[in-house]
Amino acid sequence: MKEFLIETFAHHRTLIVFLHILSAVVWVGGMIAIRFAAHQSLAMIIDPKVRLERAAHTLKRLFTLVTPFVLILIVTAVMMAVGLGFRAAAMDANGHVIDEYAMSIYNTIHIKEAIWLIMSINLGAMMFRRRKAELALNEGNLEEAKNALMLIAKYMVPVNIALGLTAIFIGVVLRNAY
Ligand code: HEM
Repeated sequence: MKEFLIETFAHHRTLIVFLHILSAVVWVGGMIAIRFAAHQSLAMIIDPKVRLERAAHTLKRLFTLVTPFVLILIVTAVMMAVGLGFRAAAMDANGHVIDEYAMSIYNTIHIKEAIWLIMSINLGAMMFRRRKAELALNEGNLEEAKNALMLIAKYMVPVNIALGLTAIFIGVVLRNAY
C-alpha cells in the first residue's frame, strides 16, 4: 500500500497537489460565499417561512457540493503525506527520531490531519442540524427550524472557515519547509 501511494504520487504529483488545492478552494470558498454573500441576501426575505426554507435549501446545495471535495482532500492529503516521505525523513524503522527539523514538519502534518477531522465532524453535525430544520419546517415548527439554522450560520460555518484558513496557511508553510 505504501509503495503504491509513493509510486502514484511520483507519477501524478502535479495532478494530486492540484486536486488538493481545488478541494480546499471549493470547501472553504463555498462556505465563505454562503456566509458572507448568500446569508445576507437570504436575510432580506420578509416571509420567515420562505426565508428559512431558502436557507435550508441553500445549505443543502452547499453540503452536497462540498462532500466529494472533502473526500478528495483527504485522499490527496494521504498521498502527499506518504509520497513526500515526511515520516521517513523524521524517524527510522524503529520509530526513533533521526532529524529534529523533519520531525517538526511531520508533526505539522498531524495538525492538518486533526483540522480535517474536526472540519469533517463539524460538517456532519451541520448536515444533521439542517435536516432537523427541514423536518421542523415540514411540520410548520418555524421556531425549531430557526434555532437549528441559526447555530449553523452563527457558529458552525464560521468555525469551519477559520479551521480551513488555518489548514491553507499550514499548507503554504509545509510547501516552503522542505
Ligand atoms: C488531511 C490532512 C492534510 C494533510 C496531511 C495535508 C498535507 C498537505 C501538504 C503536505 C501540503 C504541501 C504540498 C506541497 O508541498 O506541494 C499541503 C498543501 C496545501 N493544503 Fe493540505 N493537507 C491536509 C488538509 C488540508 C485541509 C483541510 C485544507 C483546507 C481546507 C488544506 C489546504 C491546502 C492548500 C490550499 C495547500 C497548498 C499550499 C501551497 O501550495 O502553498 N489541506 N497540504
